[in-house]
Amino acid sequence: MDKLVIRGGRRISGSITASGSKNTSLPIIAATLLAGDGTFTLHKIPDLKDIMTFTQLLNHLGAETTFEGNILKISTRNVESLQAPYELVKKMRASIYVLGPMLARFGHARVSLPGGCAFGPRPIDLHLMAMEKLGATITIETGFIDATIPGGKLRGGHINFPISSVGATGNALMAAVLAEGRTTISNAAAEPEIETLCKFLIAMGATIRGTGTTELEIEGTNTLRAIEFHNVFDRIEAGTLLAAAAITGGDITVNGVEPDQMKAVLNKFVHAGCTIETTENSITLKSPKKLIPTDVTAKPYPSFPTDMQAQWIALMTQAEGTSRITDKVYHERFNHIPELNRLGAHIEIHKNQAIVQGPQLLSGTKVMSTDLRASASLVLAGLVAEGTTEVLRVYHLDRGYEKIEMKLNSLGADISREKYTEF
Ligand code: UD1
Repeated sequence: MDKLVIRGGRRISGSITASGSKNTSLPIIAATLLAGDGTFTLHKIPDLKDIMTFTQLLNHLGAETTFEGNILKISTRNVESLQAPYELVKKMRASIYVLGPMLARFGHARVSLPGGCAFGPRPIDLHLMAMEKLGATITIETGFIDATIPGGKLRGGHINFPISSVGATGNALMAAVLAEGRTTISNAAAEPEIETLCKFLIAMGATIRGTGTTELEIEGTNTLRAIEFHNVFDRIEAGTLLAAAAITGGDITVNGVEPDQMKAVLNKFVHAGCTIETTENSITLKSPKKLIPTDVTAKPYPSFPTDMQAQWIALMTQAEGTSRITDKVYHERFNHIPELNRLGAHIEIHKNQAIVQGPQLLSGTKVMSTDLRASASLVLAGLVAEGTTEVLRVYHLDRGYEKIEMKLNSLGADISREKYTEF
């Protein structure tokens, strides 16, 4: 296994370009299943473990893919298997994204039930509800979701999500674009990842109104075409890099971004005392002498994202006073806290809120990654900790951060990747 060895106390400063978004790549790769012909060329796809897993899943279904220099080419013409097996789905919950497109194109899909997850229950009831609203019959047997369409073709319907779900909105959209007639989706997720998926589907020939809002209206069509597409930047990676500069007292410019998509996060950096300057496609952060404690509540977009919650907690260990970080999306997403406390942080958990007492001098030790964003918070803590921090099980981090140690080292960090054996 790999671990990151971080020699802390170095300032993160300089200029860096954000990678393409992982969470946008996954639904758009799934959406390629909707086209019966042609080859997709997807640019700026990050070279990540999750992308490899998803590509493997498409290959298993019969798609042909090549991936070189962040360009992913996909032809789904020869897709034959309609079964997404447990071995691949268990590696990544986002595999559920193949349900909507496979059902819409082939009238049948069998997808293994994704298991639990490191930060609490992650049900898929809303994905299934959406498919049923469009006329599918769903049965769950021997660990598989078996979805069929008694009428042969999905038909438009009204889907009203009781809570905002990125994944279920994506699946509903990908099914509705090939359904007969009009579909309306209320309380749709308005995250930039869904907005990009809408743009991708529209470029393929779909008709979608309300892109970027919580009310979507789709007119179904019979055929969609393969396209060339440029992926958007990863707003969570960008936020993590800004936090790396802020926690070490550095100044950073992150290029290749759309600052408008990061307003909630940037506002919090300003509240914490950082100076933020933006251009159309860059964000510059200058650190203050002392970080000001800043409460955040993670909620659906455009609020502060749950995927930045762990990194914010790490940052607040260095602020002068008490901050409260609440997660209203995933109430139990706090696996990073015991590990941050092992580095010397003072953080308590009360229900879905973390209370951070800062500033604390952190000192390096071995810590364990438990999930993707938890790992990112441990890396941030390691950057500011005295001595050497070893972040074990770094495969979690590799799922979502492209060349992270190379990027941070180019900004002044001292991080090496080493092999180790876990007993
Ligand atoms: C996506 C992101 C993940 C992010 C999350 C919230 C990807 C690959 N992952 O995950 O990084 O943390 O959005 O922004 O894009 N829920 C249900 N029933 C369902 C589906 C969801 O109750 O059928 C609940 C979840 O438990 C959670 C909330 O809805 O409390 C939001 O989850 P959702 O937006 O669906 O997350 P994902 O799409 O899985």
